[in-house]
Amino acid sequence: MRPMNTQAATYNDAIVRKMAIMTVVWGIVGMTVGVLIAAQLYWPALNFDLPWLTYSRLRPLHTNAVIFAFGGTALMATSFHVVQRTCHTRLFSDGLASFVFWGWQLVIVAAAVSLPLGLTQSKEYAELIWPIDLLIAVVWVAYAIVFFGTIAKRQVKHIYVANWFYAAFILTVAVLHIVNSLALPTSLTHSYPIYSGAIDAMVQWWYGHNAVGFFLTAGFLGMMYYYVPKQANRPIYSYRLSVVHFWALISIYMWAGPHHLHYTSVPDWAQSLGMVFSLILLAPSWGGMINGIMTLSGAWDKLRDDPILKFMIVSLSFYGMSTFEGPMMSIKTVNALSHYTDWTIGHVHSGALGWVAMMTVGAMYCLIPRVFGKEKMYSTSMINVHFWTTTIGIVLYTVSMWIAGISQGLMWRATNPDGTLTYTFIESLVVTYPYYLMRLGGGLLVLVGMFLMAWNVWKTVKASSSEESPVLAPATAT
Ligand code: HEM
Ligand code: HEM
Repeated sequence: MRPMNTQAATYNDAIVRKMAIMTVVWGIVGMTVGVLIAAQLYWPALNFDLPWLTYSRLRPLHTNAVIFAFGGTALMATSFHVVQRTCHTRLFSDGLASFVFWGWQLVIVAAAVSLPLGLTQSKEYAELIWPIDLLIAVVWVAYAIVFFGTIAKRQVKHIYVANWFYAAFILTVAVLHIVNSLALPTSLTHSYPIYSGAIDAMVQWWYGHNAVGFFLTAGFLGMMYYYVPKQANRPIYSYRLSVVHFWALISIYMWAGPHHLHYTSVPDWAQSLGMVFSLILLAPSWGGMINGIMTLSGAWDKLRDDPILKFMIVSLSFYGMSTFEGPMMSIKTVNALSHYTDWTIGHVHSGALGWVAMMTVGAMYCLIPRVFGKEKMYSTSMINVHFWTTTIGIVLYTVSMWIAGISQGLMWRATNPDGTLTYTFIESLVVTYPYYLMRLGGGLLVLVGMFLMAWNVWKTVKASSSEESPVLAPATAT
């Protein structure tokens, strides 16, 4: 048994290790379901006439698994790692941290069972039924207590900027989840939302958009602000820019949600407001991208032989691309073409795969050897192969969806001189099919890369010693 004082003088890496491993596991599960639904769109018979394998049930399983299981577990792992290192202190409570881990895994398992059974609230990214929503709220509050408690007992005065982003993500997601999930239960598996009509749509897309803004963006920017300088072994390009970036991003994101509701019964002024704030959002988003990429200025040569940095820099490039594309798509006249088409799916995955998944993978490759007491990952050349399969896979995915989406949009709106439609819907589907196959190929490449990662992590972990790092180890990117 460890003496008390040694215990107090170590970071809680055990919890980070568990979360990091589950990130890889959930990445594989979520992306496998993604590949399956991509295949179903090409070969519909792949649902085998089984209700729980239908596209409509597996699609939300995919989105929940990749966003909340893969992305969420990665955010928990990295935030617990970063907050300890940058505050020079152990987590606020080991017991509560453990509760967060097991509670979150329970939420994921409950989602993986209930969604294929067809139990849903039918609100996108908030499908889970009310008892699971309650569990999420409890686990999230515990997460907030551990994170903010650790900040409160920090041994350094300064709060490193990565923690600001993680803090905004944790607080905002709590508010979004609780407000959007308010419902009146009618049975254990069914409830009615307390909102109705246009108000329901507004609340749902205030939630949906800010889930993108705070879950898929602010949280991962926290990750970026710690692991990019760490991996590059350089300070962040501009600390001042990072603070401006933070305040601008969080104050503008909140207002952009109505761009999901263009040409609906939501008031026209609200749609225009959403559009204007989306256009303004380009500035802080690019500020963050530039800050991340320029951290390598003067050390670009590192990109030549460090595939982990390649993951991070390509991720930031995808962040830049998707945050340019998003404001363009929020312009009403552009949205009139893009909405309902695969262009949106291309945009989603240039953000979700290009930015979120690549940053997560890079951060995991940086974090895993450290928390397992190893100098580096087992095979650097395997990371390089993973980098290329992922990059080529994502390019195939997004390019195919752009072509498919713009073709669909143009075909649907084409009219003959007498006012009739030029193309039937089926004709637009026929044009789309080859691109669905191309997307499937891209998805498969990404998935193969995840299996290579799992093998590499397995070999690294097996070869490792499991000593916890002392609190006063040379600390971080502060
Ligand atoms: C192997 C990788 C992946 C594949 C093959 C894949 C495939 C798919 C497919 C086929 C759809 C449904 C598209 C449609 O309904 O037309 C979809 C939707 C979606 N995926 Fe993925 N995906 C992958 C990775 C990811 C990741 C890593 C994330 C997030 C971190 C993600 C987030 C989403 C979201 C948010 C949607 C819903 C988009 C919307 O409703 O507009 N995907 N994915
Ligand atoms: C400045 C930043 C961004 C802006 C202004 C923006 C704007 C938009 C717009 C206009 C749409 C289409 C709405 C529709 O026609 O239904 C959209 C969809 C979407 N975007 Fe973005 N985007 C941004 C960045 C991102 C990033 C970085 C990600 C992912 C990490 C992302 C994820 C999504 C998702 C998941 C959807 C689909 C929502 C749905 O299910 O309908 N966006 N975005």
